Amino acid sequence: MESNITFAMVKPGAMSRNLLGNIISVILDNGFTIKGLKLTKMSLELATQFYAVHRGLPFFEPLIEFMTSGPVVAMVLEKENAVAEFRHLIGSTDPDKAEPGTIRRMYAKSTRENAVHGSDSIENVYREMAFFFTPQDLV
Ligand code: RTP
Ligand code: MG
Repeated sequence: MESNITFAMVKPGAMSRNLLGNIISVILDNGFTIKGLKLTKMSLELATQFYAVHRGLPFFEPLIEFMTSGPVVAMVLEKENAVAEFRHLIGSTDPDKAEPGTIRRMYAKSTRENAVHGSDSIENVYREMAFFFTPQDLV
């Protein structure tokens, strides 16, 4: 499996706060290339499957409510060591713990409304991007 790609998503809160352009600028400035990009709204079913690993945890229902509350932008990004590089660029789940210069430190509102998603393993890249893209969607 290719390990130079990752799956990313700009979450509803960042979309409604008009941060899409800023976030894409940071991504491109940090050497990622966009291979796929899609504006969509996650259905309840899709969000439940996407975050199935968190089912049963206290934050699951509010997370699903948040992720289905408005549009998202899903992306496939390319860079050497993309998964780790993008996780580094987005910063900690809790923006107060995220390093200065990370996307979440700059643009997250809270642990839940943390602006962006990034896959945490190459297995999850392929699992997650399949919810949004077919191979033909990628350039
Ligand atoms: P993500 O999957 O969205 O890239 O975020 P992550 O790996 O940094 O965090 P994860 O543990 O996978 O959690 C998924 C998303 O659930 C929300 N969350 N809320 N305590 C809470 O209220 C809480 N913990 C997690 C966040 O939106 C987190 O990104
Ligand atoms: Mg995660």
